Amino acid sequence: MKPVVILAIESSCDETSAAVCIDGTIASNIIATQQIHEQYGGVVPELASRAHMQHIVPTVQAAMEEAGMDGSQISGVAFTQAPGLIGSLLVGAQFAKSLSLAWQVPLLAVHHMQAHVLANLLLENKPTFPFLCLTVSGGHTQIVLCKSPLDMQVLGETIDDAAGEAFDKAAKLLGLPYPGGPLIDKYATEGNATAFKFAKPNVPDLNYSFSGFKTSVLYFLQQQTQLNPLFIEQNLADLCASVQATIIDILLQKIVKAAKQTGVKNICLAGGVSANKGLRAAIELYGKKYHWQTFVPPFEYCTDNAAMIAITGYYKFLENKFSPLQTGVEARAVW
Ligand code: KG4
Ligand code: ZN
Repeated sequence: MKPVVILAIESSCDETSAAVCIDGTIASNIIATQQIHEQYGGVVPELASRAHMQHIVPTVQAAMEEAGMDGSQISGVAFTQAPGLIGSLLVGAQFAKSLSLAWQVPLLAVHHMQAHVLANLLLENKPTFPFLCLTVSGGHTQIVLCKSPLDMQVLGETIDDAAGEAFDKAAKLLGLPYPGGPLIDKYATEGNATAFKFAKPNVPDLNYSFSGFKTSVLYFLQQQTQLNPLFIEQNLADLCASVQATIIDILLQKIVKAAKQTGVKNICLAGGVSANKGLRAAIELYGKKYHWQTFVPPFEYCTDNAAMIAITGYYKFLENKFSPLQTGVEARAVW
């Protein structure tokens, strides 16, 4: 039988990515990261759209070449439809539509957050259904119950900042450049996680909040630097370790609750923050304590990438969930 070959494009934020997946196995996953935003301390939407315009052709070409594919072998074209920056999404969407039209193959609109969850299906040792997924990125924090590839339910999510934002904002207060999450991770390895205590929110159900935590870091640092202007410099590793431990604790308490409520013991991580070494170690530790099977995708499938769009597009293709060419893009997308 002819293999199902999906070309996928991801352009929701500041990564232009293209991937090819053959019968559910990734054959290429090219990611062009936009460095330009570093100097502004965050993603500048207008610059992101322009960079996607520059990167999209070589990125797609490289993905096709690496997979050894030409247009005649592609079964469907998948793209990130939502959520994301509108200008960025439009670049990927229009490019995908043009290819779908030129090659006369179905168009597959993919929800970026569903794709983050399904990145776990790219693992060699993948979770069986149902599983719970903690998706933690710069824009989102969600607990998702996944019953089958395309049957998912959001059980809880953040009511203010995302976990990645909490890392990045705390890092900024510590004088670290954007994105500060990976730097907190790096310095935390040499610090004492119990050196300082920061506020943990009391939010009902399976929802999250990080605004109180962020304010407590701000006030604490203001107080301490008034007494000793070198406080941050002298305590950077301990501060990073304590910040990281607090965020991880906030995240995992709700996963424990979700696992108890649902009885599901397959627990997955997804999103850029799942690159965090402390979080990876903690989920494994919790797994032993609560008898969970835990799953964490490799780093290149945790941050924004088209491989996760390709695998989601593949399952949509199998179920004939095609999208019309007039499909729009959405900044926010409700499930
Ligand atoms: O999923 P992602 O690449 O993009 C979004 O869709 O948001 O996530 C980016 C976020 C940023 O906030 C970044 O600081 C955080 O993931 N991040 C980390 C680490 N690596 C990336 N946070 C903590 N520790 C890390 N190692
Ligand atoms: Zn993402």
